[in-house]
Amino acid sequence: MENKFYITTPIYYVNASPHIGHSYTTIAADVLSRFKRRVLGKDNVRFLTGTDEHGQKIQKAADSAKLSAQDFVDKTSLQFRNLWKSLGVSYDDFIRTTEERHVKVVQKVLEILFKKGDIYEGKYEGLYCTPCETFWLESQAIGGLCPDCQRPVERIVESNYFFKLSIYQDWLLGFLKENPNFIKPASRYEETLRFLELNKLNDLCISRPKERLNWGIPLPFAPEHVTYVWFDALVNYISAVGEFDSQDNYQSRWWPAELHLMAKDILRQHTVYWPIMLHALNIELPKAVFAHGWWMINEDKMSKSRGNVVNPLEMIEKYGLDAYRYFLLRDVPFGLDGNFSEEGIVKRYNSDLANDLGNLVYRTLTMIEKYFDGSIPNVDFNKLKNDQKVSNILAKIQNLDSRVSSALDKQDFSLALEAIWELIAMANKHVEETKPWNLAKENKQEELKEFIRLLIDVIRAVSRQLEIFIPQTALSIQEQFGEEKVKKGNPLFPRIETKKK
Ligand code: ME8
Ligand code: MG
Repeated sequence: MENKFYITTPIYYVNASPHIGHSYTTIAADVLSRFKRRVLGKDNVRFLTGTDEHGQKIQKAADSAKLSAQDFVDKTSLQFRNLWKSLGVSYDDFIRTTEERHVKVVQKVLEILFKKGDIYEGKYEGLYCTPCETFWLESQAIGGLCPDCQRPVERIVESNYFFKLSIYQDWLLGFLKENPNFIKPASRYEETLRFLELNKLNDLCISRPKERLNWGIPLPFAPEHVTYVWFDALVNYISAVGEFDSQDNYQSRWWPAELHLMAKDILRQHTVYWPIMLHALNIELPKAVFAHGWWMINEDKMSKSRGNVVNPLEMIEKYGLDAYRYFLLRDVPFGLDGNFSEEGIVKRYNSDLANDLGNLVYRTLTMIEKYFDGSIPNVDFNKLKNDQKVSNILAKIQNLDSRVSSALDKQDFSLALEAIWELIAMANKHVEETKPWNLAKENKQEELKEFIRLLIDVIRAVSRQLEIFIPQTALSIQEQFGEEKVKKGNPLFPRIETKKK
């Protein structure tokens, strides 16, 4: 089915509290969901997020919090849900990998692949990073250190179960070559291709012996082992939408997903493991995977393990929710890395939100009160001979929706916002050039009416688009501009005074 949109975020590890990086992917998914709900209707959009709750990392975090693993994940998973509420995230479903609906699908997947012969028992010997739950090759773990977190890796030998990734390498390469839009942006597509062309895939170790790790989903055919956390986690995208429902073999109306969103840290799991798992199961592949960049702090990736995280709640407390959402979406093109700083937020806040948007709205409301007693004048621009400047603005209003839509169809949030801000800038410039106070002085009522009405039409068009990105602000604008009268509130974004150096 074409007229539906199923979008997912990664399911985040609950070993620590959410930070700005997690909020970024989730807000991006929120914006795309709001956009698609407008286009397709709300019943045709499904936005899934959730939490990844098994594995050694989480067992360890529970141990150090002196809680049972279950109590621990209940508590931390809730932090994510509460954060999404505070950030205005409109998810439709929140999946937790400890839920029954997920566990039974993971076990079914394992059983099918085991029966098929795609999962077999073998000996595993390798270098393992416990905090990252990742095995590394000798060549990757330079100096005996995990390439990701720089902590020492351990040599492990044990009996385990393996998934035959290797036999599907050629198929995957062929698939990717035929579907260059499967991985976005293009740089990540190239990276994946290069990886597959230069390396031979190893089979994937998908189990952990219970004596080493108890906190996981037992393998149905070898209950002394639990499932490797990544093999468990990826399945959430299908378990959440009822693929493999046991009662009636009902095929989910949502699968395949139109888009999996994530950052580039988990690109390979989503572009190599996951497509191969689905193909081996004879399930359709998602339509696309988008791996965006990282938020950095002084050249370092923001991450729990590096201990440089910023709490989103603190940022919205300080700058407001919409300034935060706007900054994340506007400041860095989606796909590239970006540097996070509060100065950066303040800069965007003062220039784009206070000076441009806030000022346009406030000065327009003030003029309507002053010149028209708060009533919204009616003007039909189609019946007028408009000058070039007015025609340009009218054309921009007309085009705004299609410009925003085509940018969002490419997941280009900053481009979409630029289009909106172009119109805002044009309107502000128009105010400065027209000098409405002179029209008023000269008692040019008709001109003044047309002038004000044009600004109102700009603001309405802008606020309609802002519903997707910064819904609170859009609502506030719409409340201030009623059908017939205006109701001026406080300025939307009072300037933040910065200390002079
Ligand atoms: O990897 N910049 O969970 P996780 C941008 N459970 N985005 C960031 C970021 C940063 N500095 N840091 C984190 C896992 N993210 C697995 C996923 S999915 C089947 C299983 C975001 O808690 C980004 O979306 O480590 C990244 O991919 C994700 O959080 C990793 O979250
Ligand atoms: Mg991570």
